Amino acid sequence: MKDSPIGIFDSGVGGTSIWKEIQKLLSNEDTLYLADSKNAPYGEKSREEIVRLSQKNTEFLLQRGCKLIVVACNTATTNAITDLRENYNVPFIGIEPAIKPAALNSKSKTVGVLATKGTLASSLFHSTSENHAYGIQVMEQEGTGLVELIEKGELESEKTRGLLKKYLDPMLTKGIDYLVLGCSHYPYLIPLLKELLPQQVRIIDSGEAVARQTKSILLEHNLLNPEIGRAKHQFYSNTDETILKDLLYNVNAEIEVSYLDF
Ligand code: DGL
Repeated sequence: MKDSPIGIFDSGVGGTSIWKEIQKLLSNEDTLYLADSKNAPYGEKSREEIVRLSQKNTEFLLQRGCKLIVVACNTATTNAITDLRENYNVPFIGIEPAIKPAALNSKSKTVGVLATKGTLASSLFHSTSENHAYGIQVMEQEGTGLVELIEKGELESEKTRGLLKKYLDPMLTKGIDYLVLGCSHYPYLIPLLKELLPQQVRIIDSGEAVARQTKSILLEHNLLNPEIGRAKHQFYSNTDETILKDLLYNVNAEIEVSYLDF
């Protein structure tokens, strides 16, 4: 079991932002990544549909012997992780918008959260927000259309810039000093976000925290791979895998990216 891969899934290519953090911290762990791009965006689907797809992805990864599953998607985590934990007997790591550090450090007491409709509508997001952002104004903004653009590789196009500007302006008017990226696709927009945001607005995403949590859960379950060898990383996409390859082009690891009809 210790030398089995870590399974990771997302509605598409965005979860590779999480995979990169995991690979950095746990460089001798094999991984298996599933990009369900055919069904992206999850954020516009019903909770039932998100649960169904998350179960399908989990079963795919379990059939291939994964020892732990990282749900590298805020929308799937906030809507489906409770069901997954009830139904499958492996540890699950989820990702949620990092409201806590933003709320703790905000001086203007106003923070922005950019996430999908499905994440912002979920009860898990609301309880996290209520628990950690007491006395803080949380400006919630749906990032409608952004996941589709990132899936097409449009990280800096005029269309992406225009949409981001439209979403950021109301938050900036309210005086946010933190912007929480509540979708694993959005870290790929950081270069553009840095251009559009004033310098004093800090950007927070959850990738590093997810990697640290993955390590600590592997340790707790005695599942860390003790072998120091060159780890293997297999990526599957159920659409054209070009964008997935592009996002991984400068990674220093043994990776294989393939199309798979699932
Ligand atoms: N990466 C997913 C997330 O973190 C995108 C969701 C979607 O497909 O709408 O929420």
